[in-house]
Amino acid sequence: MYPRTCLQHSNSSAKLSEMNNDYFTVIGGKKLTGTIAVHGAKNFALKALAASLLFTGKVTIKNAPRIEDIFRTIELLTHLGVTATVRAHTVTLDPSHITSTKLDPNIAKKIRASVVLAGPLLARMGTVHLPHPGGCVIGKRPIDLFLEGWRCMNANVRESKSGYTIHTKKLRGCDLTFKQVSVTATESLMMTATLAHGKTILRNAAREPEIPALAEMLNTSGARITGAGTSTIEIMGTGGKPLTHGTCTVIPDRIETGTFLILGALLGSPITITNCDPHHLDVPIQLLKEAGVPITCGKNWIKVTRPKVIRGVDMQTREYPGFPTDLQAPFVVLMTQAEGESLIFETIFEGRLSYTEELRRMGAHIHISDPHRAIIHGPTALRARDIESPDIRAGLAFLIATLVAHGTSKLRTVYQIDRGYENIEERLNKLGAHIKRIS
Ligand code: EPZ
Repeated sequence: MYPRTCLQHSNSSAKLSEMNNDYFTVIGGKKLTGTIAVHGAKNFALKALAASLLFTGKVTIKNAPRIEDIFRTIELLTHLGVTATVRAHTVTLDPSHITSTKLDPNIAKKIRASVVLAGPLLARMGTVHLPHPGGCVIGKRPIDLFLEGWRCMNANVRESKSGYTIHTKKLRGCDLTFKQVSVTATESLMMTATLAHGKTILRNAAREPEIPALAEMLNTSGARITGAGTSTIEIMGTGGKPLTHGTCTVIPDRIETGTFLILGALLGSPITITNCDPHHLDVPIQLLKEAGVPITCGKNWIKVTRPKVIRGVDMQTREYPGFPTDLQAPFVVLMTQAEGESLIFETIFEGRLSYTEELRRMGAHIHISDPHRAIIHGPTALRARDIESPDIRAGLAFLIATLVAHGTSKLRTVYQIDRGYENIEERLNKLGAHIKRIS
């Protein structure tokens, strides 16, 4: 269900609906050519929505992607008393009257990003009930770093069957070293610390581009955050005073950019990706060039062509600026079409190679040597199949695989793809793909 306000004001197609049963039929083997524009970053827009809880006045988020995870997060916010309107790609929020401090468990179990709302809500209201967060099944995904951070800031955490109740009389800044680099824990504690009393230092912080973007959004509204984008972030808290009005423009989605880049490496003749920031993908671009893929970059565009021969290269996923784990699955599809052997080492999540089983059924030669490592021998022709999207990123990797495979495939559970990519079939069809959504 959409927040009613969204439905009233939305002026683009009302295709999205909760947990739709849509599927795609895909006729593969077609070359793709033309220009495709990148939308706003899901993983920044989600945090900008969460950050709205730190404000008492209107918050405007421009260039927000119209995707399921964004709509679900808006629903979570409306359950807390925030009013929201969505017009095209602009979300306007009024968080002046928070009426609940309990995150809706039915929505929270669908998206992991629900945990990101807890920090700002705690900072604003002094208490929050966080149901056990859900999201993509790609590994254990504990939240110990968040809990440790809130405890360090003078909050009390109580765990029960239904989740966590976190409470504080007064949030105090602290000096915290993350034992592991975590994107959402960094963002969450940076937001919590924004309204705390005194100074917080976050060490061994994540450095993903979405983090300085979030700091900029908060700083332009009066927060005092320095070092975001480096591994040490300092936040001088406002002493309990909420921020007033906020506005931001969502940065380009680097994962969508990288996915189109890989698609272009497989089928581009050529494709040009616009509205992107090539520097956010320095490592993937370097690796693709090593694989023999011709790539030219401008300030905010990338042109990519399928080479005669793709070479097999080894890849390890790493925290930014390393190769993003969210591009691992599409990269594996690329390597199934590459000459020779490639070793893929997934260092971030232990459950993020299970989708390869389906690629094997499509004809790929992939050997899983342990939960973190896959060895691929290529190239192998992929066969069209009837498959299901397991999560956002593997779902899109399957869509790419079906576009490469000759014949007609059926891709089910398209909802997973809708969680992260807006109108993907229409956008790819403009490049020459044959994807049909069956509702
Ligand atoms: C963010 O997830 C992204 N999600 C993920 O995007 C992305 O894959 C991931 O970062 C890595 O880049 C959002 O931004 C909403 P982590 P996050 O905490 O923050 C361990 C997508 O498809 N860890 O950086 O949950 C964890 O198990 C997705 O868009 C702890 O041990 O990832 C993992 O091994 C899915 N304790 C490692 O840290 C904690 O308390 C890094 O994960 C938290 C994390």
